[in-house]
Amino acid sequence: MIAQVAAVQLANALKHIYINPLERCNLNCQICYTRKTSPILTSTQILDFVTAYQKVQKLETITFCGGEVLALANFPDLINTLTQQSLFIQVITNGTINVLKKIQHPNSVNFIVSIDGIEKLHDANRGLGNYQKSINFLRHAIKLGCHCEVFSIVHHQNLNLIDEFEIELKKELGVLPPITYHPRKPPLYLETHPVANILGQVTGFDFLTQSEMLELMQTRRVFPSPELGCYQIAVASDGQVYGCCEGTMPLGKMTESPAGLIAKLRQRLESWSQTNEFQGCLGCSQPDFMCGIKPYLKKLPQK
Ligand SMILES: C[S@@+](CC[C@H](N)C(=O)[O-])C[C@H]1O[C@@H](n2cnc3c(N)ncnc32)[C@H](O)[C@@H]1O
Ligand code: SF4
Ligand code: SF4
Repeated sequence: MIAQVAAVQLANALKHIYINPLERCNLNCQICYTRKTSPILTSTQILDFVTAYQKVQKLETITFCGGEVLALANFPDLINTLTQQSLFIQVITNGTINVLKKIQHPNSVNFIVSIDGIEKLHDANRGLGNYQKSINFLRHAIKLGCHCEVFSIVHHQNLNLIDEFEIELKKELGVLPPITYHPRKPPLYLETHPVANILGQVTGFDFLTQSEMLELMQTRRVFPSPELGCYQIAVASDGQVYGCCEGTMPLGKMTESPAGLIAKLRQRLESWSQTNEFQGCLGCSQPDFMCGIKPYLKKLPQK
């Protein structure tokens, strides 16, 4: 049996799937942790999976990530097809490729744009001029009526500039979008993940120390959240399906029955329930991995 709290979380999580159609990207960020492998899912593969999934499970939201999905010429058409089916679409993007005028239902799309702190530090990671491109993307998206959020990588050098970053962002946009901070994937994550394990440049982007990580987890909205619960059916560009966006052990393939994939995710959470040692935790689909944050969670006060 899954713990009651995780059962409720799973019921909600199943209404939201994650798809990574490609790993390739138009940028080459200094601290990106993902490998730029070649496979790319076609729109037909994606739509077939979505249709099969909806036959067994209510679906409300799809989050797309990459690589950079807005580098795919047919991606705006795919978004439009899915929003026409009354699905809510989230796109995690670097915001440097502006295809917004092709989006037919702006209010059905949430653009989650990555901005890694103040302009100087963002551009040091992503390349000169890219901060302004991403800000212009956000301004345009807000004007069109899209939902907008920000993901922001935090490392030792930009941690103490978060307040300054939020002031700067609000000044640029007129509003402060919801921000989720992503602590730079810690060494334990990179050592353990079989594919997403690029170390990248460290000088100028040092990993957070243990106390910095704990402070960030307790003071800002972070991913993964200390309560976890971040599992969902997640399709990767090679057609493998995982139990979350950071998965390392597949549940199966996207051509398999979605009911079977969901049953395997449920089993993972059943075994998590039997071994979980954290109060109030919503569960993890890969407790042996846990994004490398288990040592930090052990140091946080238990609720
Ligand atoms: C791999 S990117 C793909 C989407 C898109 N290309 C972008 O940059 O937003 C997905 C998310 O991972 C974040 N990310 C990249 N490298 C990271 C790292 N070393 N630690 C934590 N998050 C990272 C990005 O900032 C982005 O929000
Ligand atoms: S963080 Fe995003 S934009 Fe930067 S290289 Fe990685 S996938 Fe591309
Ligand atoms: S490994 Fe666990 S903590 Fe990490 S994203 Fe997956 S479910 Fe969340």
